[in-house]
Amino acid sequence: PQAPPCTLLIFGAGGDLTKRLLMPALYNLAGGGLLAEGFSVLGVDHNPLTDEGWRDDLTGTMDSFTKDPSAEFHAERIDPKPWGFIRDRLHVMQGDFADEATYRDLADRLSGNVVFYLAVAARFFGPVVEGLGKAGLLKQTDGAFRRVVIEKPFGSDLDSAKALNKTILAQADEAQFYRIDHFLGKETVQSIMAIRFANGMLEPIWRREYVDHIEITAAETIGVEERGGFYEPTGALRDMVPNHLFQLLCMVAMEPPNSFDAEAVRNEKAKLVQAIRPVTPENAVRGQYSAGQEGGHAVPAYRDEPDVAKDSRTETYAALKLEIENWRWAGVPFYLRTGKRMAGRRTEIAIHFKPPPFALFREAGGADLAPNVMRLRIDPEPGSATRINVKRPGPQMHLAPVETGFRYGDFFDPAPTVGYETLLYDCMMGDPTLFQRADSIEASWAAVDPLLKAWKDAPVASYVAGSPGPEEADALLARDGRAWLPLD
Ligand code: BG6
Repeated sequence: PQAPPCTLLIFGAGGDLTKRLLMPALYNLAGGGLLAEGFSVLGVDHNPLTDEGWRDDLTGTMDSFTKDPSAEFHAERIDPKPWGFIRDRLHVMQGDFADEATYRDLADRLSGNVVFYLAVAARFFGPVVEGLGKAGLLKQTDGAFRRVVIEKPFGSDLDSAKALNKTILAQADEAQFYRIDHFLGKETVQSIMAIRFANGMLEPIWRREYVDHIEITAAETIGVEERGGFYEPTGALRDMVPNHLFQLLCMVAMEPPNSFDAEAVRNEKAKLVQAIRPVTPENAVRGQYSAGQEGGHAVPAYRDEPDVAKDSRTETYAALKLEIENWRWAGVPFYLRTGKRMAGRRTEIAIHFKPPPFALFREAGGADLAPNVMRLRIDPEPGSATRINVKRPGPQMHLAPVETGFRYGDFFDPAPTVGYETLLYDCMMGDPTLFQRADSIEASWAAVDPLLKAWKDAPVASYVAGSPGPEEADALLARDGRAWLPLD
């Protein structure tokens, strides 16, 4: 169904997120007929922009996507119908986020349903919500909704996340806040729930009796690019772990919810995160890339990237061993790793199963059989792949591992998506399933808090750009007699 008519109010209208992701997502939603006639966009930015100027700018950016195959959004052509639908509904006003007058102006202009989208730097999250609340803009009267979408990072540690929750919850109800994690907008992340809970053959073995360990990887080949200023005080742990990687962890490890209702799902996710034993430095490795190679080109060290200190100790790689203290997963380690400038681009979850109880067979040459591994692939090529053992053809009883699996692209036409369509649509529809609740966010920060504190003054290991990561991370698994799956 179409989303109810509403105004999408974007703070940070002139920013990158608006251009690269929000506009393409709206265009795709309009293309799918999911936006009502009464839909409109009001942008607020501190720079002076006019409606016509903004429309022309964004039309130019949309057109540029047809020439750039590497953009998140790439289209052969921009269809004038859905783009015209959006373009005609774009309005913009100048406003300082810190100035009460901005919110008074908004109160004069806005009526009915509004989604406030905070596409702004994290330091503005609290002040903008306070501005909205004080101007009465978050009051839901006459059946109209007022919702606030908050981008990441939500806090930078446990204390700051708690403080931010306190600030915003003083202005409106939890149910009005939609804390975004774009990993939940990825098609295959939602599919993990389907794979687990819609297949009777999988759920019975999804537990400690059959699973040896689980590996979660988000490896990127890109470096820190132009984001040194943001990345320096942030680092790989804060940037990726308590948010994106923990969301993947929840999907793969939470208990089956009683229904697909938002609170039922979010309750299970919160319980899972609360069961993570806080991570200590013995169970983690941080690394930073030195100069190396990427796709055949020489690339600089992190310390030589723009806006990065020459003696920076910020990590561009983090690996963690997690313990989940609950009935299903006790004793099953979860190994998480993420990094920039690694040997391959891959986001995936690998479930390593235990070997069969008795070694009836060996591989040719007498080696132990490779245990079954099921890989749930998220990026770059969504699908799954499972390693099973079969008999090699021939008179002798020799075994070999093979792979069985599927690629989404082989079965389904690719849905036009930049990953924000579902999230925007769900927010307009009032479905918070894919958004983070205050308790989950705080439990996530609590799980990594000891590590954040310990790493503050700790040295950082080094890995060559374009390599699989620091040796110390291999040692973290080798200690348990295990190894990371190769990245290429
Ligand atoms: C962002 C991080 O949230 O996620 C980036 O800030 C990272 O540093 C990105 O590159 C990864 O997302 P994706 O969708 O490209 O895997």
